[in-house]
Parts: sequence; C-alpha cells; structure tokens
Amino acid sequence: MSGIFISFEGIDGAGKSTHIDGLATAFRAQGRVVTLTREPGGTPLAEQLRTLVLNDAMDAMTEALLVFAARRDHVIRVIRPALERGEVVLCDRFTDATFAYQGGGRGFDWNVLASLEHWVQGGETFLQPGLTIWFDLPPEVAAVRLVGARVPDKFESQPQAFFEKVVAGYGRRYAAATERFARIDANQTPEDVWTDVLAAVRQSGMLP
Ligand code: TMP
Repeated sequence: MSGIFISFEGIDGAGKSTHIDGLATAFRAQGRVVTLTREPGGTPLAEQLRTLVLNDAMDAMTEALLVFAARRDHVIRVIRPALERGEVVLCDRFTDATFAYQGGGRGFDWNVLASLEHWVQGGETFLQPGLTIWFDLPPEVAAVRLVGARVPDKFESQPQAFFEKVVAGYGRRYAAATERFARIDANQTPEDVWTDVLAAVRQSGMLP
C-alpha cells in the first residue's frame, strides 16, 4: 500500500477536530488526495451502527461487536481502497478507541478485542494506522471543556471515573506500540497543540 493512514485518538473533549482539518489542508497543499473519515462511521451502514452505539444502552460485548462490525464495513469499503489508490486517510478514532472505551472504560475482555482486531483488520496485510496521534488530556480538564459544549451522547455523559479508565486503556495501547503513537499534550493552547501535531507528522516523514 502506498497510501498514508493516520488515526486520531483521545477522550471526548480532547479537541481533535480542528487539528484533523488542519492536517487535511497541509496534505492537500502537498498535492495529496485526502479521505477524511471517522469511527464509528464512515459508510452508510457504519453510520447507522454509530447511531445505535452512541444512543442505545447495551452490554459491553454488544457494543464491541457493533463497533467492530462498523469498522469492518469501513475498512473494506473506504479505508483499504483509499490506501490502495495512494491517498491519505485521516480517521477520527480507530481501533485504539475500542480498546480504550470498551476495554478500559467498560472493562470488556482485552484478549477478545485483540482477536476481533485481527479478524476485522486482517487479510493479506494487517491494517493498522502508520501513525496514531493521541491527544492526551486529563479527564478533569476534558470535563470542564465539555460543559455546555453540546447535548452529550451516551459516552460524553459518563462520569469522570469512566474517562479515567478510558485514559488508562489508551495508556495500555500506547505502551504496547509506542513506535506507532505520537502522544501529544492536549492540555495546551490550540496553537501549541497544533505545533506538536505538525512536528509529529513531519518527524514520521509523512509531511516534509
Ligand atoms: P466522536 O466521534 O464524537 O468522538 O464520538 C464517538 C464516540 O464513540 C466517543 O465517545 C468514543 C466512542 N467510541 C467507542 O466507544 N468505541 C469505538 O470503537 C469508537 C471508534 C468510538
């Protein structure tokens, strides 16, 4: 595959969106075709599953199976084809979010998630982002940012203790694959966060 695959992670309120848009602009300025997408979602079927996952109460296994079902559709219909065309895929959340939210936050079995990851992202080559930018933010700071921001969905309305477990889940994924991650201190001004994001992508060699 000649494309570039970058995922963006962090707890709700970490402030990923403007930086994803900024990177899309930077890649387009280099003449690259950019596919901007998100999870759960990114295809009509996966967006329907997203609505269920974000709004309906369900047990953790059901939630994990739905996000992986959405991911499967997204991977085979959007992500792999775009990478095969040599495009840049910028994905707002990917599998690390499942380990963090369903594994860390909800306490679902880590090994089952690892098996699902291999089923869903497997094939001739195992699909994994070339770079994952983790916007690391203390849950208490995220909570202040989220107050009044918008009507909270099922996850955004969770207590701080839930997000502490989500951060621990991200930390566990990070520790197991530090070479894939750029861990950004998201508790800075947006300008300083952007400086760090750009530096990380340049350091990875994906942007000059
Ligand atoms: P967002 O697109 O607004 O960030 O919302 C997606 C929400 O879904 C967010 O709270 C994280 C959660 N989520 C999971 O619980 N598991 C997953 O696998 C993914 C991709 C997201």
